[in-house]
Amino acid sequence: MKQEKVIILGAGGQIGTELTMELRKIYGHSQVIATDIRDASDEVKNSGPFEIVDVMDTAKLNELMKLYKVTQVYHLVALLSATAEKNPKFGWDLNMGSLFSVMDLCLENGVSKLFWPSSIAVFGPTTPKANVPQHTVVEPTTVYGVSKYAGELWCDYYFRKKGLDVRSIRYPGLIGYKSIPGGGTTDYAVDIFYEAKKHQKYSCFLEADTRLPMMYMTDAIHATLQLMDAPADQLSIRTAYNINGLDFTPAELAAAIKKHIPSFEISYAPDFRQQIANSWPGSINGDLAAKDWGWKPAFNLEAMVSEMLENTKVPILTA
Ligand SMILES: NC(=O)c1ccc[n+]([C@@H]2O[C@H](COP(=O)([O-])OP(=O)(O)OC[C@H]3O[C@@H](n4cnc5c(N)ncnc54)[C@H](O)[C@@H]3O)[C@@H](O)[C@H]2O)c1
Repeated sequence: MKQEKVIILGAGGQIGTELTMELRKIYGHSQVIATDIRDASDEVKNSGPFEIVDVMDTAKLNELMKLYKVTQVYHLVALLSATAEKNPKFGWDLNMGSLFSVMDLCLENGVSKLFWPSSIAVFGPTTPKANVPQHTVVEPTTVYGVSKYAGELWCDYYFRKKGLDVRSIRYPGLIGYKSIPGGGTTDYAVDIFYEAKKHQKYSCFLEADTRLPMMYMTDAIHATLQLMDAPADQLSIRTAYNINGLDFTPAELAAAIKKHIPSFEISYAPDFRQQIANSWPGSINGDLAAKDWGWKPAFNLEAMVSEMLENTKVPILTA
């Protein structure tokens, strides 16, 4: 087993809940410190160290990093797209402020690698709509997207100027059954499974034909671990890598669910999130991630839907 001490910031969230468990399998349960500003799942809390910490509390975070002699950091804290749009200033302060302080703490504590996720929200209305290449027009129109793109550029800056080995992926909308999503525009693609199992119907907050890039959580965790494991000299991108996964519309997802639950019906009541979704592309080209570190998604729409329907436990749809 590798001798690393890993700290996860935001371990109680949608990604952290699953990533924590995978990292504990790799490095050993006591080697992976899960942290969050709030309580986490029993699985996360009971399988290894868990600490409550506000990522903006630099002094406490520094103390923890020294106490545990941390060698790797996964910084997953952010205000997501829909929530940040309701509170732009706070979204900017949390997303950017925490990235700066975590990067500085990594340097101060001699951390060997930092993972910080970006998002397909960096793209905007002027970006090509399909098969978006790694290098393209990037003009986000949401505060979340602006914070992620600025963050990418700062990651690149810290790598080049200060030698911090920071790595990043532009995650698409992530779909998993172990925790509920935290306020993003792609949350419908998780919510729909709970409602399909509970009520056999779902009212979608996006229009039927809104195509967005998505990914099953197993693939996203795999991509993250693969990127973090890759030799540094193979990585040509120090902003954030595009990765390809699934892409579908609410109507296509509903049709795939209907194959399993024939009585399932979807209706559409678009809200403010439609405008956010309209500004994003529908599919992503991940060729550079494939070339640099061997990225290849394993789940197609059918496989993802089968696993979600099999494993989603109802009723638990509370934020
Ligand atoms: N889930 C997705 O579809 C998706 C897509 C693209 C990018 N991302 C990015 O991945 C990362 C993780 O996303 P997620 O979906 O797990 O988010 P989430 O909202 O589910 O989890 C974030 C966690 O951070 C915690 N947190 C919030 N403020 C904090 C603070 N001040 N101090 C400490 N913890 C705090 C929350 O309690 C929560 O558990 C984020 O950077 C997000 O932008 C997610």
